[in-house]
Order: sequence, then structure tokens, then C-alpha cells
Amino acid sequence: MHVKAPIRPIIDLSLKADGSTDTALFARDVVAGLSKKQKTLSSRYFYDATGSKLFQQIMALPEYYLTRCEFDVLTEQKQAISARFGSDGFFHLIDLGAGDALKTKILLRELYQQQQEFDYVPVDISGDAMLHLTHALQAELPKVKVQAVVGEYFRALEWLQEHKHERKVVLFLGSNIGNFNKDESLAFLKVIRSYLKAGDKLLMGLDLRKDPDTILQAYNDPTGVTAAFNLNLLERINRELGGNFVLENFRHFATYNPLEGVMRSFLISKVKQQVHLAAADQTFTFDAWEAIHTENSHKYTLEQAQEMGKACGFRTETVFQDQQGCFADVLFAVE
Ligand code: TRP
Repeated sequence: MHVKAPIRPIIDLSLKADGSTDTALFARDVVAGLSKKQKTLSSRYFYDATGSKLFQQIMALPEYYLTRCEFDVLTEQKQAISARFGSDGFFHLIDLGAGDALKTKILLRELYQQQQEFDYVPVDISGDAMLHLTHALQAELPKVKVQAVVGEYFRALEWLQEHKHERKVVLFLGSNIGNFNKDESLAFLKVIRSYLKAGDKLLMGLDLRKDPDTILQAYNDPTGVTAAFNLNLLERINRELGGNFVLENFRHFATYNPLEGVMRSFLISKVKQQVHLAAADQTFTFDAWEAIHTENSHKYTLEQAQEMGKACGFRTETVFQDQQGCFADVLFAVE
């Protein structure tokens, strides 16, 4: 019997490439964000072990329709989608922001059934998630070769560049693109495009515009899981950077702008207060009702989605949607 060596994720050492530690980078970003006139904290720091667990709870909420809708798209269309991936022989399946890969597994099982030749390269900022996923896949689909990469998106881009001449299908699911602003998403897709060649594909998930009430509830559930997820950012700063945020003095607030199609999440200071950050030896002052902006989630029309692809050099091959028109996975082709 062939015995497989245990697979370990590739850890993104470049996170520390400038000589600073993870903590120093985190501290620098937090200081920069809280020093702005309009305070911000980057959503990339949501996903520590606690945050990743809370996000899994969000995805299971009845109000958080995104995951279920995309799950439906992939389940209903898995045969057609998978058939489009593999028409040309072996390929790398690169999954940007894979997380627990609950949705990608639908495609992995189908690709395996169709006897397609591929390997699977999940990329995620959470080392925890990549370790779990690697083990879960070894148990469930032992024949699928998995090489997890732990790192930020730029690490994924480097991977694409290193494998420029090999056939690739890139997955960018879960409306992750929606967390970029317009310029960032165009820039990101253009870089991805530059590392792909004719025959390569990109499957991108997009949350579609819908009743604002539906969207609002998805980011403001009554059980408070979303609030806990957002507030965990402050707890993480307390834990890792020696902050003294008093969580009760902040509240989660989320609002949707239907003109822009943007859902925005904030942490709002309920009182005038000061917060000290030991790691940076700095104090920040918050006015009563001052906001920290933590995340944007863009919602798209199908026209916008296709325009975005076109502007970055992709041709729309097929738009896969659920029956309610809630969510789209757009298959872009490179010619
Ligand atoms: N990226 C996810 C999204 O845009 C994360 C998320 C869900 C989120 N709920 C949130 C981020 C609430 C901040 C606040 O859907």
C-alpha cells in the first residue's frame, strides 16, 4: 500500500519578510487605522481562531443568506461547472480564501467523480483553517492532492506567478471580491489575469443586489453573533497588542446604501473615552458616537459583474445562479 507523507500547509513566511513580527505588523496597521480622521480597522484581522469560529457561526445563521445561496448555486450546477473546468487535462484548482471549503467540497467531490485530473491549492490567512481543511480532505477525499498555502492574497498571487505556465482554475468564492473597493477589485483581478493564460478560468462569487432588509439582517442578526464577530477585533487587539478596549463601550452597527450597493460595518464608541495600546505605547481618543469602519461588502448587478471581468481582460463564459437570483458564480474565461 502506498503510504502518503503527512501534508502540512505552506506557511507564508513573507508575512515577516520586512523583519517585523506578525505582532509588529498588526500594531502598525492598528495604529495607522486609529490615527485617521475617520478611524478604520482592517477586516483582514477578523480571522484569528476566535474570529474564524464566529464566522463559521455567521455562515450557519438563517439571516446570513450568502453562504446558503452560493451553496445552492454550486449544488444545483456542480456538473456543469466541473465539466467546464476540466475540458483540457490536468489543472491546479486554486481557492482564494478557502476557509473551511464547505462550498468548494461540492466541486471537489464532483470533479473527483468526473475523474478529472487536478490538484487542490487552498489559500487562506487562517493557518488554523488550512490545517483543519488539509486533514478533513485527507480523510474524505484521500486521492485528491492538497497543498494548502497560509497567507494573504499576495501570497496567492505569487503562487499563481510561480505556476504561470501551468493550467489553472482560480476560485474566488463567497463574495470575497465584495470586500474590496472598486479600484482594489479591478487591480486585484488584473493581477490575477496577468498570471493566467488562454484556457485558464476564474470562478468568482458575487452577492447580487436585493431587498435592503434582507441584506441588513444578514449583517445584523438578532442573536448577536455578527456583533460578537465584529467586536472580537477589539478583543484581539486587547489580547495581542495589550489594548484596553472596554467592549461594553462599543457597539456593532451595520448599514446598507442602495445607491452604491454597499453594506458597511462599524464599531461605534458609545461614550467619549480613551484607549491605550501597550504594544505601540499610544493612546487613542474616541468621541461619543464616533465610528470605526471595519468592513465594506459590495452587492452587484449582473451587468456590473460582467463589466468588472471585461475591464480586467476576462470573457464571461457562463453565469451560474440560484433559482431566486440571490447569488451568482460567474465563470470567466481567458482567451
Ligand atoms: N466578508 C464577509 C461579508 O462581507 C464577512 C462578514 C460577515 C462581516 N458579516 C460581517 C464583516 C459583519 C464585518 C461585519 O459578508
